[in-house]
Amino acid sequence: NTLKQGKVTWESPSNIALVKYWGKRDPQIPENPSISFTLSQCKTITTLSYKQKEVTSDFSFDVFLDGEKKDAFKPKIETFFKRVEQYVPFLKDFHFTIETKNTFPHSSGIASSASGMSALALCLMSVEKLFNTEMSNTFFNQKASFLARLGSGSACRSVEGDLIVWGHTKHVAESSDLFGVKYPYTVHDNFKNYQDTILLIDKGEKQVSSTVGHNLMHNHPYAASRFQQAHDNLEKLKPILEAGDIKGFINLMESEALTLHGMMMTSNPYYILMKPNTLEVINRIWKFREDTGLHIGFTLDAGANVHILYPESEKVEILNFIENELVAYCKNGEYICDQIGFGANQI
Ligand code: PMV
Repeated sequence: NTLKQGKVTWESPSNIALVKYWGKRDPQIPENPSISFTLSQCKTITTLSYKQKEVTSDFSFDVFLDGEKKDAFKPKIETFFKRVEQYVPFLKDFHFTIETKNTFPHSSGIASSASGMSALALCLMSVEKLFNTEMSNTFFNQKASFLARLGSGSACRSVEGDLIVWGHTKHVAESSDLFGVKYPYTVHDNFKNYQDTILLIDKGEKQVSSTVGHNLMHNHPYAASRFQQAHDNLEKLKPILEAGDIKGFINLMESEALTLHGMMMTSNPYYILMKPNTLEVINRIWKFREDTGLHIGFTLDAGANVHILYPESEKVEILNFIENELVAYCKNGEYICDQIGFGANQI
């Protein structure tokens, strides 16, 4: 009985929610359903080296970011290991070295938790596969999404693409609170290669973390209607996606973004993550849309950055507008061109 050792590498993308997940209860169960586009360029690449120990002991692992030892990441990973241990019982039998890097600048304000946690979950599944060689791809991906969810909720939507739903709703067949599922209905070609240009407005640490934000949805005065609205929006999205109704799509997506920030402004304590330049950009997008009739729309994460979404067919005009008018509002003129993607890959 030889001890197992080896290494595995996964790259996993970030994702951008159209209907937002905001509010959760233990253990990482969302209060409402969400749907996201998986991204393509913004990703985390993680190599997990594993070495089976002679005797089982406590968790043992080292973490490196861009080749540098990062002990600051250890508590987060330790918490993740504790949460998933009951589902991957081999964790304490190995020493792990986790080497990770992101394709996007760190502290860019782009959350690396979705791409990072999904990459790590996929690496753990590759180790599980050593013990369970028969497992199907479907099982592998579903369990990876399940584990990723326990690391960071939205991470469960990064394992696959291109449109992923997380959270049970009667409007999406097979949807689950426990893992992400591929959107099962027809999506019009208008949304093929849909573009996401991310304007980096503010690169600083957020004043209020997502964890705190989710928790402020407990006892939030508008919680019940917000959760209901997310279900309603998943229902409304169905004919929009089927017909290729980009106007309807933009309306729903922008409303979701502003509602997310509205929830932050109406919680107690209340807070604002948008910056003056976030609002400048939004107003300019609206003006440009009115002037040109082009299908440009925005969404926001829990931060100041603006994701600009648009169809591939309008890429030239819209990128021109971004470069000429919006880059001025970005920190150091930085922005990232991305588009809808198809999920993680083993490399
Ligand atoms: O996965 P978390 O806990 O970082 O929460 C992310 C929440 C939003 O990005 C604001 C919305 C979403 O659905 O991704």
